[in-house]
Amino acid sequence: MSTTDFDPLAPDQRENPFDVLAAARREQPVFFGEALGLWVVTRHEDVLRVLKDHRTFSSAGALKSSLEPLPPEVVEILAGGYPKMPYIIELDPPLHDRIRGLVTKAFTPRRIAALEPRIAAIASELIDRFERDGRADVIERFAWPLPLRVLGELVGVPEQDLGRLHRWGTDWLLLQQQQPPDRQLGLARSVVALQRYFVDLVERRLEDPTDDLVGAMVAARAEIDPPLDAVEIAGLPLDLMVAGHVTVTRAIGSTLSRLFGDPRVRDHLLDPKTLPAAIEEILRLESPAQGLFRVTTREARLGGVTLPAGARVMAHFASANRDGCVFSAADDYDPLRADLGNHLAFGKGIHFCIGAPLGRLELAAALPLLLRRLRGLRAGAEPAEREEVFFARGFRTLPVEWDA
Ligand code: HEM
Repeated sequence: MSTTDFDPLAPDQRENPFDVLAAARREQPVFFGEALGLWVVTRHEDVLRVLKDHRTFSSAGALKSSLEPLPPEVVEILAGGYPKMPYIIELDPPLHDRIRGLVTKAFTPRRIAALEPRIAAIASELIDRFERDGRADVIERFAWPLPLRVLGELVGVPEQDLGRLHRWGTDWLLLQQQQPPDRQLGLARSVVALQRYFVDLVERRLEDPTDDLVGAMVAARAEIDPPLDAVEIAGLPLDLMVAGHVTVTRAIGSTLSRLFGDPRVRDHLLDPKTLPAAIEEILRLESPAQGLFRVTTREARLGGVTLPAGARVMAHFASANRDGCVFSAADDYDPLRADLGNHLAFGKGIHFCIGAPLGRLELAAALPLLLRRLRGLRAGAEPAEREEVFFARGFRTLPVEWDA
């Protein structure tokens, strides 16, 4: 395998993206990936450099992996929403810092800790609904609804709206990668609906304050200098809802799939002493956010190549997380490894994951509960399907069985 084989959209590389990345780290650590039309950064050291140097590696347009400009019909649909709505993940300072400051004020450790009993209660309630069936698609019945409902309660979104927010959010991500033009039209309509939904939510909070996270953000907006307007605030709950459930869903699915092939994982997840490290090690190995994107603001030397100004770059977290220069026996599952703290599954630098404590809390509550309640949990007879969004590793469906 060599870097010319790199195609994360191909079915075999959705299943196993790691061999081609290992070849890249050995032979061509920063290479131009023709399949995506961007530069892929594969070594831990270089990925860290990208993440820490936001002046050279800007996040503007950081979500978009496709180089193709959107067709005019799609742009026209998007114009009906809020094309200038800032998403925190796509911002550079100073706007990034203003918006991140607002989340930090509202998304406090106390607010996260208060969610802990709710996470367990929601997880139990979901399991009650299918426990007697003996089989299920665990993504549909559990891995999607759990983080969505937790975020719904956190952000202040009614439960009946979660289904469409989930659909619109997935469409938003899908619009960021190559798609047939016909499909882009529908995806763009979802983006507009998503943006309008959150602007409307923020405007209602401006008139009628609430205790939820959006209410807290609205209340704190005056402390940010200069204050943020409704559209600027609305990007935040939108980011949290999307970034906060797609990743946790993927992490749950990938963990289960891994434990079906390795009994040690089950034992580690069921023991409170080993649970946190096991979760961390699986995040390192699976990297639910495989990599995200940056654009160079000036010429830069990286991994032996010179990137021109304006180059699109993918900082490949999943590849960095298996770099043998940092992790010993990097492909092996070993929650006791001394180098575990170096993993980049939550990123690094100014865009470090805001939801990392919540994501960890959800996984630590949900996974042992699932294993205790569904005795003998194992892979189902039907084949699992991989996730379509290539930069999010996980499953679209994961059929499972247990002793009902
Ligand atoms: C296992 C779960 C999760 C993983 C693996 C994950 C991964 C990541 C990564 C790698 C980044 C850095 C992006 C970059 O550098 O461009 C990030 C940022 C972010 N994450 Fe997470 N995340 C998880 C859970 C969550 C949750 C639960 C939330 C919300 C409640 C969340 C919200 C965010 C937000 C808003 C950002 C952008 C921060 C910024 O740009 O300043 N994430 N996440």
